[in-house]
Amino acid sequence: MGENTLKKHLEKCQKFVQRKRIKLISDDNIITPRIWQKNDIKINDIPKEIIEKLKKTVNENYEKFNITIGKSLLYTEEIVKKDFENVYSKEQLSGKNSKNIFQEISIFENAKKLNLILNTNKNIIVELGCGAAELSKTFQIGCKNDSSHILIDRMKYASKNKFDGQIQEKINESNEKNNETNYLMRDVIDIKNMDMKNYINKEKENNNVVFISKHLCGNAFELSIEKIISYHNYLLENKLEKNNKDSVIIATCCHYLLNSNTYCNFDYIKDILNITKEEFDYMIRLTSWGTLKDMQSEHFKLGKQIKYILDKGRCEYLKQHGFKNAEIVEYIDSTYTKENTLVIAYN
Ligand SMILES: C[S@@+](CC[C@H](N)C(=O)[O-])C[C@H]1O[C@@H](n2cnc3c(N)ncnc32)[C@H](O)[C@@H]1O
Repeated sequence: MGENTLKKHLEKCQKFVQRKRIKLISDDNIITPRIWQKNDIKINDIPKEIIEKLKKTVNENYEKFNITIGKSLLYTEEIVKKDFENVYSKEQLSGKNSKNIFQEISIFENAKKLNLILNTNKNIIVELGCGAAELSKTFQIGCKNDSSHILIDRMKYASKNKFDGQIQEKINESNEKNNETNYLMRDVIDIKNMDMKNYINKEKENNNVVFISKHLCGNAFELSIEKIISYHNYLLENKLEKNNKDSVIIATCCHYLLNSNTYCNFDYIKDILNITKEEFDYMIRLTSWGTLKDMQSEHFKLGKQIKYILDKGRCEYLKQHGFKNAEIVEYIDSTYTKENTLVIAYN
């Protein structure tokens, strides 16, 4: 290896190590006053009698949560033709390739169905844990290129691995054509450190902010809820709620990462199940069963029920903090992904 190549390699390597370190550090997500502790319980280490007790407790009390799961699989051929004509090739819309595209289309269409997306240029789409921002790209197409986009992720993505360039290009074209001021911004930041007010032009507030995400893992959802509620309160405190709408549509995943300290609504679940924090932490770990292949197994059923209970608690929390409606919706068939649930909140 030549001296220059070695130098470049070491620089790259150093950056990689730094990225890994940053990732590990920012895993210590903290929601004041909640304290982050990693849920490192292994399912195999949970005593059998605790699993039996939790199973009994969940089965006996599940009805009390009054959970209704709306089914809204909005990615039929007709829908794709109407809102996404000529966007995807036949190959993209068949087999495994279609998995992400159908999820993204269905999230957009669910937002549209509930009028979370307005037929104006007021939409500001905030994608939390955006990764490559593919979901934002879908929303932009659905909004006929007439929307602004804020992308949030704590990981830095290389340009070739993200859709920012494509989104920006469409924004530029549309701004020029329609004399508008839509914008795109990406912030490489941990959700726990973001402040929505930094991204919004405060003087001209007249916006429809839609918080979106596809597969926002465990605790990142709880951090997001805090930030969304904080923005919602800001609108109320400054009497801006008449001209500014805000809503939430997020596909949840990886509930097993949560624990009694980071989860937003332990008290709600405790009141119904009458369980201790320790039992709750064990219960959370059982959600891993909710993504098992065998959907007929008792383990799958229990894991899925607990996931629904956790998402219902999130809905209740959003309602307790200002959203009139909060619901759980199945948005994609489980053959595409077992993580097929949306939490939607709006006024
Ligand atoms: C499962 S990936 C999903 C990525 C993308 N939404 C998709 O569907 O392809 C979760 C993303 O959330 C980001 N993330 C997780 N926790 C975060 C946090 N606390 N703050 C910011 N981003 C976070 C990760 O870096 C990752 O890009």
